[in-house]
Amino acid sequence: MPRFAYVNGRYIDHRRASVHVEDRGYQFADGVYEVIHLFRGRLVDEGPHLDRLERSLAELRISLPLSRAALSLAMRELIRRNRYSTGLVYIQVTRGVAPRDHKFPADPHSSLVMTVRPISEFPSEILENGVRVVTVDDLRWARCDIKTVALLPNVLGKQAAVESGAYEAWMCDGDGFITEGTSSNAWIVTAEGVLVTRPAGIDILRGITRQAILEHADEIGIPFEERKFSREEACAACEVFLSNSSHFVTPVTNIDGVVVGNGRPGSLSTALHNRYLAFMCASPRALS
Ligand code: PDD
Repeated sequence: MPRFAYVNGRYIDHRRASVHVEDRGYQFADGVYEVIHLFRGRLVDEGPHLDRLERSLAELRISLPLSRAALSLAMRELIRRNRYSTGLVYIQVTRGVAPRDHKFPADPHSSLVMTVRPISEFPSEILENGVRVVTVDDLRWARCDIKTVALLPNVLGKQAAVESGAYEAWMCDGDGFITEGTSSNAWIVTAEGVLVTRPAGIDILRGITRQAILEHADEIGIPFEERKFSREEACAACEVFLSNSSHFVTPVTNIDGVVVGNGRPGSLSTALHNRYLAFMCASPRALS
């Protein structure tokens, strides 16, 4: 089945889709992105993802090259052409092509690229056994709330995780507190049953899944706190999990070789996972 990418207004054979060598995203990581889950033909939290895209762009003073409504339509057309029912929609906007020079171009034309990649549904093995994480230093800049394509510390962290047989790396700030995962937010459940996640300041990405989980917790009466927690507190927690748009609620059962709780995914993590799954199933269909 042919696969299509969207590049600046055109739907192109994915194998031939490309941008110019002087695109500022390529040369300066001068751009932002979003990842939206297409789940059984439904777009999960499209509105909040596009809100965050617009916010990231505004923070960097990059303009969206088309209206939000047109972006939404183009995304649907891309989904229609690709015919995947479950996958990840990737949206990237950069400051566009210009002769290499650090300052903003005088007359910028931002670039918009979108792809859809099929993925398999959440592996039941992960829900049964959980995953391992390792901790690494957080080497990132001071504006992690902007979802930029400048992901080198995240790339190095994830590679360190993979090389040590782990699923994700959790990054630690200079005081030993966990900031977040390289592509996920970090959570613990205390002995008192309180859900804890770091406040969404400028030092982490305000995850869309994170926000949905907080709302679900509120609805079902699970107490939660937005506060920092250390690696030690995480290792001693009753339950630990991570969240993101691709793997929503993923139980963590081992941190740096230390077994979390009884070594099995906790009941609250599993309940939140299942609730999120139901929420995904109820999301609006991408195509009518
Ligand atoms: N990453 N923190 C970081 C650093 C992330 O890169 C992500 C998502 C999250 C979770 O955000 P959300 O719940 O909105 O997906 C937190 C995406 C999935 C990625 O880079 O592929």
